[in-house]
Amino acid sequence: MAAMNIKIVDDPNLPVAQKIKIGKATELIGKRVLIQGWVHRLRVQKGLAFIVLRDGTGFVQCVLSGDLANAYQTTQLTLETTLSIKGTIEKLPEGKSAPGGIDLVVDYYDIVGLAPSGEDSFSNKVQEDADPQLLLDQRHLVLRGETLSGVMKVRAALLKSIRKVYVEEGICEVTPPCMVQTQVEGGSTLFKLGYYGEEAYLTQSSQLYLETCLPALGDVYCIQESFRAEKSHTRRHLSEYTHIEAELGFISFEDLLSHIEILITKSIQYVLKDPVAGPLIKQLNPGFVAPKLPFKRMEYIHALEWLNEHGIPNEDGEPFKFGDDIAEAAERKMTDTIGVPILLIRFPVEIKSFYMKKCADDPRVTESVDVLMPTVGEITGGSMRIESVEELLAGFKRENIDASAYYWFVDQRKYGTCPHGGYGLGTERILAWLCNRFTVRDCSLYPRFTGRCKP
Ligand code: 4AD
Repeated sequence: MAAMNIKIVDDPNLPVAQKIKIGKATELIGKRVLIQGWVHRLRVQKGLAFIVLRDGTGFVQCVLSGDLANAYQTTQLTLETTLSIKGTIEKLPEGKSAPGGIDLVVDYYDIVGLAPSGEDSFSNKVQEDADPQLLLDQRHLVLRGETLSGVMKVRAALLKSIRKVYVEEGICEVTPPCMVQTQVEGGSTLFKLGYYGEEAYLTQSSQLYLETCLPALGDVYCIQESFRAEKSHTRRHLSEYTHIEAELGFISFEDLLSHIEILITKSIQYVLKDPVAGPLIKQLNPGFVAPKLPFKRMEYIHALEWLNEHGIPNEDGEPFKFGDDIAEAAERKMTDTIGVPILLIRFPVEIKSFYMKKCADDPRVTESVDVLMPTVGEITGGSMRIESVEELLAGFKRENIDASAYYWFVDQRKYGTCPHGGYGLGTERILAWLCNRFTVRDCSLYPRFTGRCKP
C-alpha cells in the first residue's frame, strides 16, 4: 500500500512547539505544543486516527488526519506506546466531547517506545474482570488505569491538605524511625527483624517517639509508614499503611476530640476544593457528603446498648457486655445504620493500650476515642496519655511488657511531664471512605497484606 511509504516530517516552517504537560493544555488554545505521553485509547480508521494521550497530569484527544493517519507507523500503534506529539490545541466544536473539551490537531509525531501487540499486549495483561490476585500481580500496569490513578491523585491531595491543616495549627513535622525495639499496639502484630544481632521490629505506630518530641518541638505530627503483622484477611487491614499521627501537649480530652474533628473536616474541604482531586472524587464517589461539625459523640457503653437494642451480637454470638471488643462487623453495621461520623469514646481499660489515661470520673474506662465513618468504620484511634511514671509502669506490668526498653518513653514523664494526647489516622481508610472503595487495598500504591509482598 502507498500508505506504507509515507514519511512523517516535522515541518520547520511551523511555529516552534512549546513543550507542555497535558494538564496545562486547556490554557493554550490556538498554540502549537509538544506533548509527550502514553497511548491510553486508540481508534485508527481510514484517513483519521484518534489517540487519547495520557501523561499523568491529564488526558488529551489527539486527532491525526490525511497522511499522518494513513502512515504505516500509525496503523501499527498500540496501547501504552509512548509518543512525542506536536500539534495545535483547538477547542472542540459544540456537541463533541473529549477530555478538557479540546483536541490536539496533530502535525507531527514520533514513537518513543512501541508497546507490544498480540499475546503480550497491554489489554491482554490488564483485564478488568480478571481475578483480583492476577490484577495485584499486574499492579504496576493496573495503576495506569483511570480508577487507581485517580485514587492515587486524591491520596496526594489528601496528604497535602492534611499537611496544610497542620501548618495552620502550628504543628511541627518530624520523621521518627521505622526500625524500633518497642511495641505500641500489642505484641501479636509485630514484624520482627534481625538488627546487627539484636531483635528489632518494624514500627506499629510512631506515637511513643512523637510523645518524646513534645518538650523539644512542641506539638508534632508525622506521616510515616506503620507495619502490622495482621493475621486477619479483611478489607480494611494492610500489613503496611501510611499513618498520619500527631501528639499535642497541654490539652484536655475535649481539646483532643475537637482537634480531630477540625483536622478531618478541614482537610476534606481542602481536598474537595483541589482542582485535580475535587472532580475525581465526584467521579469516584458521586454521593459523597462532606462531614460537618460537630461529629456525633457516643460513649462505648452507649454503643453496647445501641448494639443490643438492634440485635447485633458480639463475636461469641451473644449480647454485648462491658469489656467486649466491638469487632469490625458490628462496628460497621452500627456506623452504617447511624450514617454519620461518630466519635466513639471512653473504652474500657482492658481492651485498650497500656499508655491510655483513665477517666477521672470512672477508672474502668479511658480517655480514648475511635472515629467511625460510614462504609469503612474506624479511621482514627487516639487517646490522652498517662502522665505519671508510676501509673505508666503499672500499665506495662498489666500488659506484661518489659519496661526497661521504654526508658526513653518513661523519661518523657520524668523530666517535666504534661497532660497530652494524640491520635493516628489510617490514610488508606480515609481514602476508602472518600473515594468509595470497597477495600483499603485500592488506596495503597502497592498494597501489602497477608501473603502479598510483590510487586
Ligand atoms: O488504633 P490504632 O492501632 O492506634 C495507634 O496505632 C495509636 N498508637 C495511634 C496514636 O495514637 N498515635 O491505629 C490508628 C489508625 C486506625 O484507626 C486505622 O485507621 C489505622 O491506623 N490502622 C490501619 N490501617 C490499615 N491497616 C491496618 N492494619 C491498620 N491498623 C490500624
